[in-house]
Amino acid sequence: MRRCLIAANWKMHGTVASIEAYLETLVERVGPDGPEVVVCPPFTLLPAALLIASGSEVAVGAQNCHWADAGAFTGEVAAPMLAELGAQWVIVGHSERRQHFGETDETAAARAKAAQRAGLSVIFCLGETLEQRDAGETLAVLERQSAALAGLDPALLAVAYEPVWAIGTGRNATPAQAQEAHAALRRRAGELLGAEAAGTLRILYGGSVKPDNALSLLAQSDVDGALVGGASLDVEGFCAIIHAAPGRRPGA
Ligand code: 13P
Repeated sequence: MRRCLIAANWKMHGTVASIEAYLETLVERVGPDGPEVVVCPPFTLLPAALLIASGSEVAVGAQNCHWADAGAFTGEVAAPMLAELGAQWVIVGHSERRQHFGETDETAAARAKAAQRAGLSVIFCLGETLEQRDAGETLAVLERQSAALAGLDPALLAVAYEPVWAIGTGRNATPAQAQEAHAALRRRAGELLGAEAAGTLRILYGGSVKPDNALSLLAQSDVDGALVGGASLDVEGFCAIIHAAPGRRPGA
């Protein structure tokens, strides 16, 4: 069985003052029977978020980590630092990091390895640009980007398919487009991680997920959850997406 996973990526939003009421509501609404729920705030909000989520069914993750365990890397945060705080997850390879901060397939792979070394679970992001989709390159891009999964521990891994053209645009992939990409990623995971790991791997969809499109996306057999940006900033909207998700579905 695969337990669905619904993750909030708050990106560079939120203040200590603003998250208290949000998280108190969320921890009240999330129980053990539905999907797994993770909230990924900016680094500065991790201690406050961890305090409120402590002992609840809501896990907390970061949005990035460095590939070294420590060192002269001004402005960076290492995975063991996140683990020391009590974070359980980290997003790696997000397209905004690839677009604006020089992230490559190689650095994303190294970050994912560092995260798992520290015991953190990774949400590994990949996805094609509009130009690549229009050129018919989607599956080739996913094959190239997913090479980073080789050598990762499947027990500490989820993959997020986030087509770049769907992020923050209000234009989500259709359920059929998402299913096609997810099925291809699961086949690829089978080659890289083995059939058993691929069958239990959670593959999330991200890109303009909203309460009104979550149900149809999450109904696809290979869409095991969502990585939600803008719509996760409103706790009611995020809870509506959580409630649209099946708790568990049979693995392949
Ligand atoms: P939006 O939900 O705002 O499109 O962002 C998706 C995303 O980038 C999640 O990581």
